[in-house]
Amino acid sequence: MKSFDLAVVGATGMVGRMMLKVLEERRFPVNRLLPLASERSVGKQIIFQGKTIDVRKLEPEQFRDIHFALFSAGAGVSKEFAPHAVKAGAIVIDNSSAFRMDEGVPLVVPEVNRHQAFHHKGIIANPNCSTIQMVVVLKPLHDRFKIKRVVVSTYQSVTGAGQRAVAQLEDELAKRPVREKKFPHPIAFNCLPHIDVFFDDGYTKEEMKMKLETRKIMEANISVTATTVRVPVMGGHSESVNIEFEKECSVSEVREILRTAPGVVLQDDPAQNLYPMPVTAFDKDEVFVGRIRKDDTIPYGINLWIVSDNIRKGAATNAVQIAEVLIAGS
Ligand SMILES: NC(=O)c1ccc[n+]([C@@H]2O[C@H](COP(=O)([O-])OP(=O)(O)OC[C@H]3O[C@@H](n4cnc5c(N)ncnc54)[C@H](OP(=O)(O)O)[C@@H]3O)[C@@H](O)[C@H]2O)c1
Repeated sequence: MKSFDLAVVGATGMVGRMMLKVLEERRFPVNRLLPLASERSVGKQIIFQGKTIDVRKLEPEQFRDIHFALFSAGAGVSKEFAPHAVKAGAIVIDNSSAFRMDEGVPLVVPEVNRHQAFHHKGIIANPNCSTIQMVVVLKPLHDRFKIKRVVVSTYQSVTGAGQRAVAQLEDELAKRPVREKKFPHPIAFNCLPHIDVFFDDGYTKEEMKMKLETRKIMEANISVTATTVRVPVMGGHSESVNIEFEKECSVSEVREILRTAPGVVLQDDPAQNLYPMPVTAFDKDEVFVGRIRKDDTIPYGINLWIVSDNIRKGAATNAVQIAEVLIAGS
């Protein structure tokens, strides 16, 4: 079997470290692994497939002979260095928001639109974590009942904001001085209705990402409105989702569709207190769905609750799956 040379940009970060773990777990055929990070990480090492590998400083010339470059070091780094990787002949799979809405850059969730991956011109974008887990559930329902409108509220883990965010929560919980503040307010015992920057219309960038990315991945005329909230949780993102369909649907039909949908695990037995939670989704690759109920305030409406590990399916696993799609071919 052919094996590939891979660069992981941001290999010391939360997503980058998970990428290394996921590549190993899924036995991705890696010939050479090149971990790249900032100057701060020079001298650090990572362990991959039992081998110790030095972390190198990200520089443009490092992409020579690289087949896949998995980027997760923020949008600024992607904008500056992804073109160098493409020029050197690598396929970039980018976890940041740098290219997601660019025309000509496929935005891919393999369970939803895997075929789009083949239309790349060097860069494929991984959607935002909260978008990925939602569209995995929406797509099979849209295929059957056609979605008109989605109203989503998120309860997002601190792991979604990187290592400094986790450190802030840990410091606050331990009642010690916060080493480096990531959030503008305390996050322990608190909820922040504020993820990413605010726009003039009062929405945040995270809320706009959920709307625009869902439309790009699924269908341009689906209406999406979002409220995104950071909560003091470590295991994964949760979402309360209200869906309005064009066609009649029942709770039992929705359950049956989701029971066999790719990448989805149905956890919906209230009598047994069974529903998705971040602690049970933690370190898993699937998207968990439950609390499926009829919304009787509209003709064809459903409420449900979606949870997934944002570092895995929301980032690392989805990126590795995209590379797997490409090597498997159409
Ligand atoms: N966390 C999530 O749930 C999630 C989900 C989807 C997408 N993402 C995206 O993935 C990216 C990384 O997120 P994260 O949570 O892993 O953040 P993180 O834990 O803060 O890690 C950031 C990584 O980027 C590297 N980096 C920062 N500046 C760099 C530079 N100038 N040159 C080279 N490397 C640099 C860091 O290297 P050093 O260690 O050397 O500083 C580190 O490896 C972001 O774009 C984020 O939006 C995150």
